[in-house]
Amino acid sequence: MADREDCCFPEAVVAPSRREFIKGVIASGVAVSSVAYVSTAWAQMAPGQAGGLERLLSLRVNGQTRRVDVLPNETLAMTLRYKLGLAGTKLGCDRAECGACTVLIDDIAHYSCSTLTHRVRDRQITTVEGLESSSGELHPVQQAFIDELGPQCGFCTPGQVMAGVALLRDNPNPTREEAREAMAGNLCRCGAYDHYLNGVMRAAKGA
Ligand code: FES
Ligand code: FES
Repeated sequence: MADREDCCFPEAVVAPSRREFIKGVIASGVAVSSVAYVSTAWAQMAPGQAGGLERLLSLRVNGQTRRVDVLPNETLAMTLRYKLGLAGTKLGCDRAECGACTVLIDDIAHYSCSTLTHRVRDRQITTVEGLESSSGELHPVQQAFIDELGPQCGFCTPGQVMAGVALLRDNPNPTREEAREAMAGNLCRCGAYDHYLNGVMRAAKGA
């Protein structure tokens, strides 16, 4: 018999990936905030389900199972930062516009500010804290960003790293144009775009 949480979320739907989100905005020609996606996901629940949600969840984060009390409408960014202490995931716009909150869900880049935590209970979540090797070595993308002087103020860097890692897992040998497109969902107020792009290409060569 399915447990109560499964009854509430039979489809195990996750918020759209960054790529799908950006395509949707471009296709519609209108500005859409993540609030719309979160609200839509929330609205998809049948009446009465919300009140019956199991709040104590087991999340798979960086290879560990973490038990955490999650509000029904809580975003993954909030859970990671303020419940699990994983503050490497940054909150910039909190509306799917800047990419600072990018994490991997089953190896796909997602904006965690526009993903409901309840939707990702059975998924593998990776944050920037989960990239370091057991011996303490940086991920090749992190090292390449340092080598290419990507981080300026550093606020956007974790999101840039996660976007780069997602790209290289999907496409280990991207063209510069493919890399540029994959990184397009990450804004950098310091304007270090070419540095980050150089870093992705450097990491790809070393892969
Ligand atoms: S904080 Fe999520 S996209 Fe800006
Ligand atoms: S390094 Fe400052 S916002 Fe990107």
